[in-house]
Amino acid sequence: MLFPQYRGRRLRASSSLRRMIRETSLSVDDLILPLFAIGGKGVKNPIDSMPGHYQFSVDNLVKVAKEASDLGIPAVMIFGIPDKKDPLGTSAYAKNGIVQKAVREVKNKVPELTVITDVCLCQYTDHGHCGVVEKGKIDNDMSLDLLARIAVSHAKAGADMVAPSDMMDGRVGEIRDALDQEDMGETPIMSYAVKYCSAYYGPFRAAAHSAPTFGDRRTYQMDPANVLEGIREATMDVQEGADIIMVKPALSYLDVISKVRDEVDLPMAAYNVSGEYAMIKAADQLGWIDGTKVMMETLTSIKRAGADIILTYHALEAARELGGK
Ligand code: PBG
Ligand code: ZN
Repeated sequence: MLFPQYRGRRLRASSSLRRMIRETSLSVDDLILPLFAIGGKGVKNPIDSMPGHYQFSVDNLVKVAKEASDLGIPAVMIFGIPDKKDPLGTSAYAKNGIVQKAVREVKNKVPELTVITDVCLCQYTDHGHCGVVEKGKIDNDMSLDLLARIAVSHAKAGADMVAPSDMMDGRVGEIRDALDQEDMGETPIMSYAVKYCSAYYGPFRAAAHSAPTFGDRRTYQMDPANVLEGIREATMDVQEGADIIMVKPALSYLDVISKVRDEVDLPMAAYNVSGEYAMIKAADQLGWIDGTKVMMETLTSIKRAGADIILTYHALEAARELGGK
């Protein structure tokens, strides 16, 4: 059909018509709120490059988790900032580590909320890499056992789901086996399957003190130029037993989300990362954009690309915008 038979504007004439033909809808059910846990009591340290986000001690983190749950947000993702770091990241799998404590408290006080934990070593190692460093290199296979230990200790603390973000080869399978052996076969794995080596993680690394002290993450995180490799990574993780596949970051990778969606029949998540959040907040604070509108448009675009679930620092604001429950 060509103009004048076809007139696209006919179906854009009113709000109710637009609603009726809308192809993508964003819901509070789609959102996961990331939170940073730190030791102490009554702590609420603002994160400069992520306005509205804080390093929370467990008592305060529980309050925000409750707020999220009351707004209808189904899940939070917990990141830990430990008191001490060492070469093997031992505080990551300590029974009373910061994440383990936070998980116990949140599950105790807000049991209906799904608690997901980030499984990685970088916040906990003194060198800041996501794996074990051996002779100046990140050793894949030596890292697997530690990552599995972290996942098991999170599950034992009560985590409803674990999310490995390290990008070592074979870690999903290793974690699946370890959980199954420890009688935690019911715990799902959300794999950061297609995770790029991205400068968009800058604000997060400042917030979580997880920047590497030497080199960079290019030998394990993916090259931003690749998409076929992303499909391969996602396919591998499905075979290893992942329950949800994630693409990260989201915005410069909407094509990747879309292509991985076509290859994988599992639920798919996308991580709207710290740098993406910071850009919207900065431009909004300068009065250069309408931050709320840009936020909603951005989140809608991630769903339109094919994500079912969005990890986003905007979760509380977006939930309010969507009218809460
Ligand atoms: C740790 C981890 C990172 C993020 C999530 N888990 C940082 C990194 O890989 O360097 C990034 C999250 C964000 O930027 O919002 N492996
Ligand atoms: Zn890491």
